[in-house]
Amino acid sequence: MKIQNAVIPAAGTGSRLLPSTKAQPKEMLPVGRKPLVQYVVEELEAAGINSVLFITGRRKRAIEDHFDADPELRVLLESIGRAHLLEELKYEDTGVSFFYTRQSEQLGLGDAVRCARDFTGGGPFVVALGDSIITGQAERPLLQRLTDAYDDTDGGCVIAFEEVPEEATSRYGVAAPATEGDVFEVAELVEKPAPGTAPSNLVVSARYVLPPEIFDAIDHTPAGKSGEIQLTDAIQLLIRRGHRVIGVKLAGSERRCDIGNFESYYRTFVDFALADKELGPALAEYLKAKLAEQRTP
Ligand code: G1P
Repeated sequence: MKIQNAVIPAAGTGSRLLPSTKAQPKEMLPVGRKPLVQYVVEELEAAGINSVLFITGRRKRAIEDHFDADPELRVLLESIGRAHLLEELKYEDTGVSFFYTRQSEQLGLGDAVRCARDFTGGGPFVVALGDSIITGQAERPLLQRLTDAYDDTDGGCVIAFEEVPEEATSRYGVAAPATEGDVFEVAELVEKPAPGTAPSNLVVSARYVLPPEIFDAIDHTPAGKSGEIQLTDAIQLLIRRGHRVIGVKLAGSERRCDIGNFESYYRTFVDFALADKELGPALAEYLKAKLAEQRTP
């Protein structure tokens, strides 16, 4: 089935990135030359999505401004002799339609996704977390593998998973797999299990395909970890109601870059800056010199 709608939850306060996120959304932090959320939209567009709903909140207006065409800026660039920079605004001419709604209270990812009920029009939809980029080339892109797998679930869910070291599992939704392989059956899901209790090291990795039944499941999901309504718990309820849930592993060449804290943000920024065709090689030289300087007693 061709899935055309996607939801980008982007309502989180970004408190782990303060003060950078006091007045701007974390989804707008630059990663290399572009704001983080532009990569997410490009990934969705490449997968054939044509309508995107952002679930936003206070202090998130910059996301809407970023994807809105800005004719005045175009005229200004031309009038000051910088027409060559219009190339940088080409992303505005996307085939994607954008919609925005707000999650006014921080009630969790499950509650944020619930805000998409009317948008999804009773069909399946993609959820792409707005603070994570999937990098790396696989034979078929991750979202394509997810949407292809959806056809086999007969109204179930498909979730992207990655393997992490055991000690990191308590930061994620974790699967108890029922089968082996890159595409596997999920028997159970647990959100942020206590250290040492995770059923595996396969963790939910920021991309989902969900059926419309998820909304009723969210309605019947009580607050869980951190007192919030967790999407993981709602999917676990779907499993209990007899829905099939399939996990798709990130390929060895793929990686989830999450911009939820400064440690991963710094690493991701450096990776993207080093990959910059024009400036990456000089930056690599600079970093090498810097590191050598640090090593010199
Ligand atoms: C959310 C989900 C979690 C998932 C993680 C990364 O957690 O609740 O299941 O593993 O994203 O995709 P958060 O990072 O918002 O705490």
